[in-house]
Amino acid sequence: MSKGTKVKLLSGLGKDIFDFLELGGRIFKNREVLRYSYIPDSLPHREEEIRTLARILITSLKGDTPSNIMIYGMTGTGKTVVSKLLMKALQDKSEILENQYFSFFMDIHSTFMPTWLDNALREAVSFLGIEELFGREVIRDIFKPVKCIYINCQQMDTQYRVLTQIANRLTPFNDEDRLPVSGLPMDEVHSRLLGKLDSSDSLIIIILDEVDRLVFKSGDDVLYTLTRINEELSNSRVSLLGISNNLHFLEYLDSRVKSSLGAEELVFHPYNANQLRDILKQRSEEAFYPEAIDYDVISYCAALAAQENGDARKALDILRVSAEMAERDHSPKLSDIYVRQAQKKIEMDRVNQVVRTLPLQTKLVLYSILQLKLGGRIKTTTKEVVETYSNYAQRLDLTVLGRRQVVNLMGELDKLGLIQSKVISFGRHGRTTVVEANVPSTEILNNLHNGILSRLKGIRPRLIYNTSF
Ligand SMILES: Nc1ncnc2c1ncn2[C@@H]1O[C@H](COP(=O)(O)OP(=O)(O)OP(=O)(O)O)[C@@H](O)[C@H]1O
Ligand SMILES: [Mg+2]
Repeated sequence: MSKGTKVKLLSGLGKDIFDFLELGGRIFKNREVLRYSYIPDSLPHREEEIRTLARILITSLKGDTPSNIMIYGMTGTGKTVVSKLLMKALQDKSEILENQYFSFFMDIHSTFMPTWLDNALREAVSFLGIEELFGREVIRDIFKPVKCIYINCQQMDTQYRVLTQIANRLTPFNDEDRLPVSGLPMDEVHSRLLGKLDSSDSLIIIILDEVDRLVFKSGDDVLYTLTRINEELSNSRVSLLGISNNLHFLEYLDSRVKSSLGAEELVFHPYNANQLRDILKQRSEEAFYPEAIDYDVISYCAALAAQENGDARKALDILRVSAEMAERDHSPKLSDIYVRQAQKKIEMDRVNQVVRTLPLQTKLVLYSILQLKLGGRIKTTTKEVVETYSNYAQRLDLTVLGRRQVVNLMGELDKLGLIQSKVISFGRHGRTTVVEANVPSTEILNNLHNGILSRLKGIRPRLIYNTSF
């Protein structure tokens, strides 16, 4: 395309583009508020949990080491957001107290000093810093700052990664002394971590979010190390706050780790529809223009999410996606229709995500069931699935799995909720397993038609058996 044509095209579109942008802004006042990373100033219906945790953690501000804590709860019950909010509050408070202690310290000195010396001292403090002037030990005897380190153990899922991550959070970004992401022997990682912890001369609260994943992947050595680490420290102290979806997680741990990490335990219960409504209402007030959303729509989103385990993340997702849809339609208001569409879209995205990560042979079994459905077999039999699968596998030059293996893969698909199988008895004529897809065939087949399976496009299965269920 020549430069001239491009300019012409753009100028032709110009007015519409800006009209579109203008119309696009009627729903969202502040999109940030609905992002996962946003931490609201208050968390409705978690006041009691926040108070309990604060009561335990506040000892850190008095220079004592708080007990280790375990938080449990199902997904979307606010475990992460509550911990992050507390972490921020604790660090802010620690900074305020540190400043107050230092002013108090300075004031005591100045009481006994002539004004000229007091002024000179204050100038020296602003130039050198108070620690340099009076000596670090003196200052740290008066007040130990609190530092919080948040680790997501789904990403940091080995002992090496967790320990180096903690050490590096205590090291400036451009410092040469940062630990490499791999390659050091564990005893060196351990001793360098001890050095970093001790020289930080503070009370360190380490939050291990999704700690169950770390233990199931790499064992509990890392927790053993961390629960014992205070025995090797002279200047600093460490407290742990573990977060898990799995209520029985502690049962998998060595008994010494178990009693130390679970010194305090707290369970976050799922939200009910009314609680979710309050959470959504609070976010909506910040996120949307007042005329863009009605209270009824908020209640509807909350009711839908409450049916699915009281997950606040799900509730916020439904609200965000429906608002995005309304905005894309240039609608001035978010209505129930968008909420229903959003719920469908979220569900489809979830299913597509699950399908995408299936192993190839499992994908092919699902593919066979969906092709049979598309060909009119809403319900089919194991026999027909096995036969269809075998034909497709041969066409693709894949290893053709036997009946038993295909049935096992169907069991996996059933567990994931993608299909449903049921045994039907025909009395003395025997029994048969009836299989039905739980997902829309056209959409999921489109998703499956990439990579090697794209070679099956347009190849219909043969429907050879008479079925009537
Ligand atoms: N009481 C609340 N008030 C406001 N927002 C909340 C509240 N509880 C949860 N949320 C929001 O819901 C979403 C999910 O919360 P969070 O990530 O803390 O859940 P979680 O319990 O850690 O879930 P998971 O186990 O899946 O990690 C976040 O966007 C969070 O801000
Ligand atoms: Mg979480």
